[in-house]
Amino acid sequence: MELKQKQVDYYFPKGFWWGSASSATQMEGAAKLGNKGPNIWDYWYETEPNRFFNEVGPEQTSQFYDRYKSDIQLMKEVGHNSFRFSISWSRLIPNGNGDVNEQAIQFYNDVIDELISKDIEPFVNLFHFDMPLSMQEMGGWESREVVEAYVRYAQRCFELFGDRVKYWFTHNEPVVPVEGQYLYGFHYPALCNFSKAVQAAFHEILASAKAIEIYKRMNLGGKIGIILNLTPSYPRSQHPSDVEAADRADLLFNRSFLDPSVKGTFPKELIEIIHSEGFTPVIKEGDLAVIKENTVSLLGINYYQPRRVKTKEHLSNPSAPFLPERYFDYYEMHGRKMNPYRGWEIYEKGIYDLLIDIKNNYHNIDCFIAENGMGVENEERFIGTDGSIEDDYRINFYKEHLKWVHKAIEEGVNVKGYHVWTFMDNWSWLNAYKNRYGLVSVNLADDYKRTVKKSGKWFRELSDLNGFKD
Ligand code: NOJ
Repeated sequence: MELKQKQVDYYFPKGFWWGSASSATQMEGAAKLGNKGPNIWDYWYETEPNRFFNEVGPEQTSQFYDRYKSDIQLMKEVGHNSFRFSISWSRLIPNGNGDVNEQAIQFYNDVIDELISKDIEPFVNLFHFDMPLSMQEMGGWESREVVEAYVRYAQRCFELFGDRVKYWFTHNEPVVPVEGQYLYGFHYPALCNFSKAVQAAFHEILASAKAIEIYKRMNLGGKIGIILNLTPSYPRSQHPSDVEAADRADLLFNRSFLDPSVKGTFPKELIEIIHSEGFTPVIKEGDLAVIKENTVSLLGINYYQPRRVKTKEHLSNPSAPFLPERYFDYYEMHGRKMNPYRGWEIYEKGIYDLLIDIKNNYHNIDCFIAENGMGVENEERFIGTDGSIEDDYRINFYKEHLKWVHKAIEEGVNVKGYHVWTFMDNWSWLNAYKNRYGLVSVNLADDYKRTVKKSGKWFRELSDLNGFKD
């Protein structure tokens, strides 16, 4: 595909989606208002507030619940033609599996209608890390009943909003709750149990397939997909054991969700690892067929940074609890380009490598960049004389990634859009407001005042021109 337009150096296909992603818990606020039920974040904050950066909790997130109208107006001003948000399961169905909350229906209807009235396509995600507390008490993703409750919740969403929402997603980054809840302790209940992790992951995949099955049956004429955080795994040397370790990381963190979601099957090598460790999940008759038959029709890809993988002497302590890191080590990143304001690696070509992999190995399924962004600590230090943040580093970050996305499109990858993380600074789980990512800043000390950053103005131009100058 040859992409040309006079005014710009990089021009994107007509109708390209420009916008951003967000999630309910991270921006709605009103955690105890509007009849919302508690989710695991409300509970964790209530019981252990000191786990959260500066002890800022989910009630203090960006107040979109009250300000959605003016926020959507601002989205328009910063060039959005599409916007991803999530429905809070515990807002819509306060106890997770019972009556629907009328105030929540009203709120999400208002948001959807407001977006559509501004020509912003709503992209709706059903699950973004926020398990209702009552469902977690039943075992969360470990529990089969929770899978069934999730499917009922998904169906209610399709019934209520499916006439207007044409892009649905079953999960955002489903590997993250598995890591956070069952391996590394950054989501409640912070266990370390690989066996439960495997069961939870299987249930998330099954829940996704079952929701897709219902959506297809309802014939609502939209698309349904999943959003995965894909992290290309590069070996730190060409030594065969490093190469093998990188393949393992890819299997455990990428292909574990990518293969069943897009191809309907699990990688053979992954099954071997799981069996050899003795962690076979409970799978009921018919489950694998449901997964096989209900793959996604759109793939959202979140990309931030790659994994640089090196082998580890994994059998040195066989009695230690099983963690994927027993096989490899990927934390050290000497000599690489880093985000100086947060400490993550910046490797723009990673986005291209992922997209080419999707083209070559995942039947070039329709996809889009569903999150890409740069977090910055203490961003107020970059406030300019006009009071807005001068985040040239972020503009540069976007441009350099977009060049690789553009190249992938020229080489035939079916990339339909680019969403940044995120529209306005928001609350990021245990990190709360430590790292700022928005195109728009939010001033917590001044009644959550919104101010468009330099990157927001640039994003508007990007979207207006459907491309950018170098
Ligand atoms: C991925 C997640 O979807 C989102 O919840 C998180 O805040 C961002 N990345 C930034 O780390």
